[in-house]
Amino acid sequence: MKLIDHIRDIKDFPTPGILFKDITPLLGNKTAFAKAAQELLELIGDQQIDKVVGVESRGFFFGGVLAEKLNAGFVPVRKPGKLPHTTVSQTYALEYGTDTLEIHKDAIQPGDKVLVHDDVLATGGTAQAVVKLIEALGGEVVQCNFLIELSFLSGKEKLQGQDIKAVITY
Ligand code: PRP
Ligand code: MG
Repeated sequence: MKLIDHIRDIKDFPTPGILFKDITPLLGNKTAFAKAAQELLELIGDQQIDKVVGVESRGFFFGGVLAEKLNAGFVPVRKPGKLPHTTVSQTYALEYGTDTLEIHKDAIQPGDKVLVHDDVLATGGTAQAVVKLIEALGGEVVQCNFLIELSFLSGKEKLQGQDIKAVITY
């Protein structure tokens, strides 16, 4: 069973000219879902992880699963205005305009070893903002792991010095 057989190309979504990688067939297939979780876990090896940070929203699918498997806590990074307690924010550039992500200030303790997880590494702006949030709180990012890396968008260049791993690279 190949995971890539459960990822569907959608032309011109969400905007004309974009070939979107739709992982919902993978999520909906129990064998593929379990295999994807296992392969994400194997990227980490035997490194100690205290917290898994999952990025709203598609980083939540496997973020909680990884936290449970790693015997770590789960921390959501969310879009603005969603987290109820004191937050820190990071604004980052998009192709047109900017976006902002937030984390609870008390979600990471200084010295925490953190795994960042998201479904896709594209331009790297999202992951770069998440790394900045974690480091601002004194956490140490051990790895950024993704189900999919779109290598032609060169996201790794924004994440120099980080351990970047993906299960599937296009
Ligand atoms: C997508 C994807 C990653 C991000 C990658 O999320 O799930 O989080 O874009 O792009 P980048 O590397 O260029 O920053 P999106 O913002 O579409 O939101 P969603 O997860 O809520 O669907
Ligand atoms: Mg996302």
